[in-house]
This record gives sequence, C-alpha cells and structure tokens, in this order.
Amino acid sequence: MFRLMLTVILLLVTSVGGSPHVHKHQHKDKVIARATTSTPDANLSFFPGPVTPCSGPGCATAGPPSSRLCPANNDTAWTGSSTAQDYTVICDIDFPATYNIYPFVLAGSFEECMAQCESFNAKRDRGEIHCEGFVFAPGRVLSSDDCYLKSSLDHPSSATISLIGTPSATPAASSSSSVFSPPKFVRSQLHGASVNHPTTKWVYHEPAKPMKLEDNLLKPGINVDLITKFDIASDTGPLTSALSPLNDELVDLSVVPHISRDGGKGGELNGHHLFIFCDTASFTTTNETHKGDMVGFTSSSVAVDEGWNGISGNSLSLVDGIGQWNDDVGRMRGFSPMTHGEESFNIVLSGGGYRYAVWPTSSIISLNKTHAIQYASLIYDEVNMFTQEAKFTALGNTLLTISVDEHYGPTAERTVKQMFSLAEVKWGTIGGIRSWGSEGIGGMDGKVYLFGQAPQGVLVARTDPSKVADKDSFEYWAGSTWTSGQLPPTATSFLIEHPIMDFDLFYSPYHKTFIMVYLTPHGDNTFYYRSLQAPHPIIPAYTTPNADIPDYDYVSEILLHPWSEEQTLYKAAIPPSGNFIYAGGVHAGYFGDEDITKGGKKMLISWTEQTGEDANTPKSGYAHMTAGVEME
Ligand SMILES: *[C@@H]1O[C@H](CO)[C@@H](O)[C@H](O)[C@H]1NC(C)=O
Ligand SMILES: *[C@@H]1O[C@H](CO)[C@@H](O)[C@H](O)[C@H]1NC(C)=O
Ligand SMILES: *[C@@H]1O[C@H](CO)[C@@H](O)[C@H](O)[C@H]1NC(C)=O
Ligand SMILES: *[C@@H]1O[C@H](CO)[C@@H](O)[C@H](O)[C@H]1NC(C)=O
Repeated sequence: MFRLMLTVILLLVTSVGGSPHVHKHQHKDKVIARATTSTPDANLSFFPGPVTPCSGPGCATAGPPSSRLCPANNDTAWTGSSTAQDYTVICDIDFPATYNIYPFVLAGSFEECMAQCESFNAKRDRGEIHCEGFVFAPGRVLSSDDCYLKSSLDHPSSATISLIGTPSATPAASSSSSVFSPPKFVRSQLHGASVNHPTTKWVYHEPAKPMKLEDNLLKPGINVDLITKFDIASDTGPLTSALSPLNDELVDLSVVPHISRDGGKGGELNGHHLFIFCDTASFTTTNETHKGDMVGFTSSSVAVDEGWNGISGNSLSLVDGIGQWNDDVGRMRGFSPMTHGEESFNIVLSGGGYRYAVWPTSSIISLNKTHAIQYASLIYDEVNMFTQEAKFTALGNTLLTISVDEHYGPTAERTVKQMFSLAEVKWGTIGGIRSWGSEGIGGMDGKVYLFGQAPQGVLVARTDPSKVADKDSFEYWAGSTWTSGQLPPTATSFLIEHPIMDFDLFYSPYHKTFIMVYLTPHGDNTFYYRSLQAPHPIIPAYTTPNADIPDYDYVSEILLHPWSEEQTLYKAAIPPSGNFIYAGGVHAGYFGDEDITKGGKKMLISWTEQTGEDANTPKSGYAHMTAGVEME
C-alpha cells in the first residue's frame, strides 16, 4: 500500500506577555502547521518555496523555509515573523481527531495561515472555541493553499496517512490547475462487515421498575398520546454521569452479549465517530456451535469506532459503551430514550407483534462543537404473527439532541417527543446540513438546513441552530424564496426531483462545491452522487456575493444552481440474502484531514445488508458494511 507522508510542525507559543489578543485566558496558545509532499520519498522539505505569491490583505511576505524547520528544528524554539510570540516546532505529528474550526480558510502562505489563527482568537469572545493551532497544506485545494484552524490538540498521532488502494499517479497537492473541475470518482475499497466489540463492564445500578399503564391504554392500535403525554422512562437511553455518578461501581458483565442490529449511520461528534443503529437485539453467548438466546431488544442503539481501521482499509471495530447496559447480561438501554407510554406498551404487547419504535435513520447533523441532532423516525409496527409480515406506520419524528459523555459514551436527549406528525413532511428525518456562521465550525451561529423526503423528491427547510426544537421557527424553500408556511408533502419546490431512499449532502472544501450521495428506492445496491454546478467556486461565507439573494449563506447555494447528472459512486455486491442494501450513508469526517468534508478527497460510506443467517448466529441477521471511496 502506498503511503502519503505528511509532516506536522507544531508550534507552541511560549511567550504570550503583552500580546494584544491573548486576554484573560492564561493557557498557552499553540500553533500547528502541516505541509504535504506529493511523493512518498521526497525530502522532508515542506512549504516548498517560493510560496505562491500572496495578494490581498493580510498576506505576509514569503513563508518560512520549512526545510529548515523540519526535521532539523523539531522540538526547538522558533520565532516566526510575529513579533509577540515564540514557538516550538514539532514534526510528523497530526491531530486527526481534533475539531477543525474552519477547514476551508484559504491562505496564500504559512505565515498567512498563522495570521488567520491569531486573528480568529483576536476577534470577539467565541465562548469555548479557540484556535489552538493550525495546519497548512500548500497547493492542496486547486491552485490555492489550504489552512486548517484547530480548536484542540487532543489525541496526537503519527502523521502518516495511507491512501485507499494503489494510486497510479501522484496524489494530492502539486497540481496547480486553476480549472474549476467537478468532483469525480477515482477508486473505492471495500472494508467488509464491521465487527462488534462490546465493552465487558457495566455500571452497576438498580434498573428502574417500568411503569405499568392502565389496561385501556394497552391495546393494539395507534395512540399518539403514548408518545406525547408521558415522561421519559429512566431505564431507557444511555446512562450518563448525571444519571449515575462516575464513582459508581464498574462491574464485569456476566455475559458479554452477541449483538445483531439494523441500520447504522452516524458521523463525527467532537472527535468521536458515532454509529447509530435502529432495531438492536442482544443474545447470550453465540458461537459456531451454539445459537444464543435473546436477552433484550431496543429500537435504537449506538456504538463508537475504535482504532480507525477504515483508514488502513480494514473493517471497522465498533464498541458499545458502558452506558448502554441495563444489567449484567447485556440487556441494552437503547440510544433514544422512550416514554413510559411507549415502553409500557412494548413490554405488554410486543410479544403479540405490536410496538412503538424510534428509528434514528439519518446521518447526524452537527449543531455545535459538542452537540449534534437527529430527527428520528417515530414508528408504529404491527407484525402479522401468521405471515410474519410487518406493517410500519411512520408517526412523524422526534428530536434527539446528541452529545458524548467522555466516560459513558454517546448519549441522546429526547428534546421534543413528537416534532412533526403523521400527515406532515417529516422534516429532517433524512438528514440535513449545518451552515456554519462567522464563528466557524462548532459555533452556534449560522443555519441548520433540513431535508424533507417527498414522494417525488427532496424539499428543504431551515432554521437557526438555537431553534431546532421550535417548529414555528422553520422556514421552507418555496422555489425562489423562503416561506414560513410549512410545505405539504405534495409541494414541488424540490432540491432534487426524483425519489430517494437515503440521502446525504455535504460541502467539499477541496472541490469548492456541494456533493449529494444517495440510494434510490429502486433497490439496485448502488450509491449515486451528483455535484452542484455553480458557475463559481463556493467559499463558505456569510457575506453575499450577490446582493439579489436575501439571507444568503453558502449552503443556500444548493438551491440556486443545477446539479450534475447522476453518477455511480459505489456498486455493492448483492447481499447473501438476495435482498438489496439499504441505510446507505456518508460518514462525514472519518478520514480526518483527508476526509472529503475537511479538504481531502476520501469518504467513508456505509450500508446495511441482510446476511441470510439468523440473528443469533455469529453472522447475525444484519451486517453493517463500509467502504472507502476516493474522489478527484
Ligand atoms: C532533495 O533535495 C535535493 C536538494 O534540493 C535535490 O537535489 C533532490 O533531488 C531531492 N530529493 C528528492 C527525493 O526530492
Ligand atoms: C518531533 O518531536 C515529537 C515530540 O517530541 C516526536 O513525537 C516526533 O516523532 C518528532 N518528529 C521527528 C520527525 O523527529
Ligand atoms: C459455544 O458456546 C457454548 C455456550 O456458552 C459453550 O458451551 C461452547 O463451549 C462454545 N463453543 C465454542 C467452540 O467456543
Ligand atoms: C451546544 O448545543 C447544546 C444543545 O443545544 C447547548 O446545550 C450548548 O449550550 C451549546 N453550546 C454552546 C457553546 O453554545
């Protein structure tokens, strides 16, 4: 396997006295810089000089000759052109798990990138977000250079990042073509089925006693009151430090369960890679000679990626956190909290084939640095016990606010029990896209765009990040303007006009445009993509390039230009069961700075397929599959 070498220069500010932009915070500022080479055995000489001449405000003159910085000056002090600060250089270390503030800042030189970081910190109070360092990659984005501002320097790792497959030509950088070319598929690599590695300990706690409802509420049939009129049952949803303090006892599970689960999209949240599933069953010990017995069933669950196996082309390792277990035999608490109404109904009636489910089916939508959201589907499921045929009724959606508890794992709060209802477009259930504001990635300004699945295409709504729980704050794209009246499922002001089954849309800083990736309802085991054909490169900004567009932000461009023809991104093999694949999505951010959502060209796609085996066998009923895809 070919490896693309990356070198990191980490510059630690060691003197901050008198610096105008380092105010009350007494912690040290840190600055990273990174450059890429285009050949594996090139000299360790970065920021190849002379740097592209920089024009425009804020440009420093030539960048520092990095060959003199790395590796010779590793771990030594260095004084940049900045008069106020001293730095320390560290080479070959990357911080792939850290949060980029604005991955798409363009800077003509190393010095200019550093200036971006410093001026970011000099601006008004940004709450938690602070530029702790930066990464500079010359010539990476078309003909311009690329500058990453980092909000933390957690989880340092070696800066060698492998490419997918065996590239035939020089990857990345060097090409200084100024042609604005659309994203194109280059190659893909199948990783295979993800492997479950549940934690072997649980937080000992007395399970709450489920509430028993009155008999007249416990009969088959849809009763929305069970969703909306009851409190959250405290034995559902992941445990958190708040529910059960950290000094609680960690005890070995007496049986580490075998897990079988359906669905599995997710995304990156604060450096963690979340995979969120729908129906999940746990079983006693399951091996080649022994079929497990079912111990528990929930309609949602969550695991995190461990080890970043996908980066080296291998199948993912998914870990269920200690916050998932409700007892010592691996009965799960589930991801989405359930109401007493839903829980009680399920306990009494699920054996007869009737249940309420919460299915988080989209990729997560970033809200800010620490939180993401999902508008999870509310489902009433009725199974015919003779034919085993299931009839699912979508009762609208519920708002989950997601965060990661450092000790217990990912957790969700059920912020609105029922957000949109049966008759309405289920805005957000197929996902959305965050339009970051001037505070940068992780901030609380900007907009949240939500997609609505209509029979013949995809509709768009948007709101402010602080108002995602407030239906009345939503505005809807009516074709040429935004309207406050909710669009009906028959609306035709489509973002894209054709039926879709799964949908993701993201900004690619490398291509300076948006890309949509989707599966259609045709069941053809194929991921398709289209890119936005704007006549100009799209640079994230809140200032309008065109005074005619009211309320402009860069994401609103998705509604203003045509999309390219449908192209094939990935064709999956027909699953062993013979059924088609589903739950297809793009896991944004998986490849760190090489990720297509962060200025690179790689993306992790995932889907679910039925294995044709029983759920209580080692191959389970379902496999969560991933593949890496590289674009150019
Ligand atoms: C390394 O740098 C030297 C001097 O600039 C040059 O002659 C040589 O070709 C370079 N080697 C590689 C592998 O780029
Ligand atoms: C630079 O220093 C860091 C920290 O001391 C170390 O981890 C890294 O391997 C060094 N890099 C090189 C190229 O020597
Ligand atoms: C399979 O699991 C059963 C039940 O725990 C156990 O008795 C048996 O030894 C296991 N077989 C193998 C091959 O591990
Ligand atoms: C991030 O969003 C969450 C959920 O709305 C909120 O509780 C939190 O205060 C926000 N953080 C910041 C820094 O705004």
